[in-house]
Amino acid sequence: MGNIDWGNLPFGYFKTDYNVRCYYRNGKWGKIEISSSEYVNIHIAATTLHYGQEAFEGMKVFRGKDGKVRVFRWEENAKRMQNSCRGIMMAEPPVDLFKEMMIKAIKLNEKYIPPPGLGAALYLRPLTIGTGPQVGVKPAEEYLFMIFVGPVGPYFKQGFSPVDVQIIHDYDRTAPHGTGQYKVGGNYAASLRPADRAKKEGFSTVLFLDSKENKYIDEAGPANFFGIKGNSYVTPNSTTILPSITNKSLRQIAEDLGMKVELRPVPETELDEFDEVGACGTAAVISPIKRIVDRDSGKEYKYCPDGKPGPVSTKLYHTLKGIQEGEIEDKHGWNLIIE
Ligand SMILES: Cc1ncc(COP(=O)(O)O)c(C=O)c1O
Repeated sequence: MGNIDWGNLPFGYFKTDYNVRCYYRNGKWGKIEISSSEYVNIHIAATTLHYGQEAFEGMKVFRGKDGKVRVFRWEENAKRMQNSCRGIMMAEPPVDLFKEMMIKAIKLNEKYIPPPGLGAALYLRPLTIGTGPQVGVKPAEEYLFMIFVGPVGPYFKQGFSPVDVQIIHDYDRTAPHGTGQYKVGGNYAASLRPADRAKKEGFSTVLFLDSKENKYIDEAGPANFFGIKGNSYVTPNSTTILPSITNKSLRQIAEDLGMKVELRPVPETELDEFDEVGACGTAAVISPIKRIVDRDSGKEYKYCPDGKPGPVSTKLYHTLKGIQEGEIEDKHGWNLIIE
């Protein structure tokens, strides 16, 4: 392993030695299988290929300066995977199975857990797919739950730095009563075209508005949105966004820091009133936002006057990272230490 350049890893796919898999057949989950193949052999009529029966998760494992390996809030990911599966009528991997497979995947690839202090982590990608054949639009009778892992670098090469995002009105990632609260592939397919256009237009991501009234902030690409107003942490409570585990954790940390937490609809017009805004998720923890441009009206909202992340976002970022990496007391019991 001497040849991995730990300090320069991208946030991307990295081949490791093993992945773990478990099939659901005849109404029950089978034995855990360990594989060293990067491929999955599935039926040509598998529902994942035709009707989008696919749900995934994304989580990180950190090696601390104390040498300990920590997984952050894995149970939340296990429960969210179950909720996503339920939402698109797939068999739900039991939480205990998720845990056992997760620990196996981490231990089998232990040598790929980056050393501390470089902003790198081992990324875990659990996914469930419908493998049983159907030609009529129906849920499959067979499923495959897998976890693969790979080391990833920090989301921002320059570290924690503010980005520009674009509000769009001509695309929705989900429908008002659609699948937005589930982590299912179809939502991401719907977001590819606007995200690609935003990048070409010089933005790091898009800010989706609610798809019913086109008035409230929903979320920021693959991350939730938050704003800081005085001593308040404000974040949308929309039913069409993914309930971010990072956002849930930041809300708790904000409360621990004596802030008021407001979970409510956030109209675009309120963007003028925030002192700081950001996007939050597993990949970057917090991406501070320095400029939001409404693509239709051309209106610009500006933050970070000195070009640096705001003080509250900075405090929240370092606190959450510190807990994940074992530098700050984990008083809510969020980390599982892998022995
Ligand atoms: C659409 C979407 N919103 C928000 C998030 C952030 O969620 P989490 O903090 O659980 O990573 C993600 C990433 O998982 C996402 O894909």
